[in-house]
Amino acid sequence: MTRVITYGTFDLLHKGHVRLLKRARELGDHLTVCLSTDEFNAVKGKKAYTPYEDRKYILEAIKYVDEVIPERGWDQKINDVKENDIDIFVMGDDWKGQFDFLKDYCKVIYLPRTEGISTTKIKRDLGLGDYKKD
Ligand code: CTP
Repeated sequence: MTRVITYGTFDLLHKGHVRLLKRARELGDHLTVCLSTDEFNAVKGKKAYTPYEDRKYILEAIKYVDEVIPERGWDQKINDVKENDIDIFVMGDDWKGQFDFLKDYCKVIYLPRTEGISTTKIKRDLGLGDYKKD
């Protein structure tokens, strides 16, 4: 059994998210999504439209997702990998290189982001502000 983990906020769920989750799940047999809590998003300077419990509810309805656990801080990844018996850590390549320290504990894979879509872009296109990047 190959166990995969990925991290993110997954607000205003879009095709880029689903493609990331699909490819992550296909790398193994079980996908855990570590979902940023509203409190951790505040620390990151990010504001999700959809509250944590609802983002979790939506992710759990996706067929590629087996389990959703909370991401409460920057420093929990090594512990998550150990506790959940993780074989592969996956992130979009906007994070390339940043989690290479996990290579002591599991495989680390950065997947190419889907072009032309992001939560930030959705907000910007709808004129909702809070757009810091693409
Ligand atoms: N992701 C992706 N392709 C996109 C957007 C996101 O592969 N077009 C991936 C990210 O690389 C990350 C995961 O989806 O691994 C969750 O990203 P998240 O930051 O929650 O989504 P974004 O749309 O990037 O949100 P924001 O614009 O607020 O940063």
